[in-house]
Amino acid sequence: MNRPHGDSALGRDDARRPRRLRADGVRSLVSETSLSPSDLIAPVFVDATTTERQPIESMPGHERVPLSNAVTRVEEVLATGVEAVMLFGIPEWKDERGSRAYAEDGVIQKAVRRVKRETDAYVITDVCLCEYTEHGHCGLVEHTAGEDPPVAARSSEEPGLTVRNDESLDLLAKVAVSHAEAGADMVAPSASLDGMVGAIRQGLDDERFDQVPIMSYAAKYESAFYGPFRDATDGAPSFGNRRHYQMNPANAREARREAELDVTEGADVLMVKPALPYLDIVADVRREHDHPVAAYNVSGEYAMLHAAAEKGWLNLEAVAHESLVSIKRAGADLILTYFAEDVAGSL
Ligand code: PBG
Repeated sequence: MNRPHGDSALGRDDARRPRRLRADGVRSLVSETSLSPSDLIAPVFVDATTTERQPIESMPGHERVPLSNAVTRVEEVLATGVEAVMLFGIPEWKDERGSRAYAEDGVIQKAVRRVKRETDAYVITDVCLCEYTEHGHCGLVEHTAGEDPPVAARSSEEPGLTVRNDESLDLLAKVAVSHAEAGADMVAPSASLDGMVGAIRQGLDDERFDQVPIMSYAAKYESAFYGPFRDATDGAPSFGNRRHYQMNPANAREARREAELDVTEGADVLMVKPALPYLDIVADVRREHDHPVAAYNVSGEYAMLHAAAEKGWLNLEAVAHESLVSIKRAGADLILTYFAEDVAGSL
């Protein structure tokens, strides 16, 4: 119906004025999404190779802290109102099997014990091998004894070499059990291997850790946004890449299947990673499952906002807050983010 210009194009009853609810007094009353410090998990890097705090250049404000500083570092997080941390370790040395990942006196095991003893933090641990293997892959790698990895493996095109799936599962279960023994409240397997969640659930249950939940990196993409993290943990693969176990960024339906499998295997929380470029996946997992959904706002997402802010092109506090609200709006209940402390502090 054509109305004469200037007449009540909005309708006589003025029913269609969404702006009414944007006035200052009412905006927050009708806000659909809220963000609170208790939604956030702060990643913390504990480094066994250093005795001093080492700034991570590509992640401004973040550091690798020595074991002696793990408790202090976690206390800093707690002081902002954030209640949970995700611990990542940089071991004193790396080997082919990632044996420092499941050592009783490994960096994470020691850190967890101290943090659990001295703070009230909820402690989650990343369960993977890539920070602990000298080749930097997330499981055992196939190659002939005594030789360098086959040339084919070094090519990013050639699938010649990959992580040995089933042989790596026992190790991942061992890692998870060693974390639980140290007192971890929750484990978060991130190796992207088939059957990983089931193997870890079984391993934990066999050792009577049936109360330790698993937050599975259910939809974990082979993403270029992990760059700064790999600098931080010195965890980039020394050859090849991770596209044979991490998901293809082009795939969304596959994420449903991955999440479904993890649920069947016993995952308690389903994580999507990265977050901002994958909000459709967060929304999908939210719709398809009634499990809590976590999203990992990864190192590259953090670094790019910092870089732009440093140039004066973006307001850091505003874009950080907007990013986290958007991740929640898409359906995440929990967010792992390097912005946790800053955003919590400003809430
Ligand atoms: C691997 C792991 C990675 C991240 C968390 N756990 C790196 C990878 O998968 O390559 C990346 C997190 C980030 O970029 O912030 N165990």
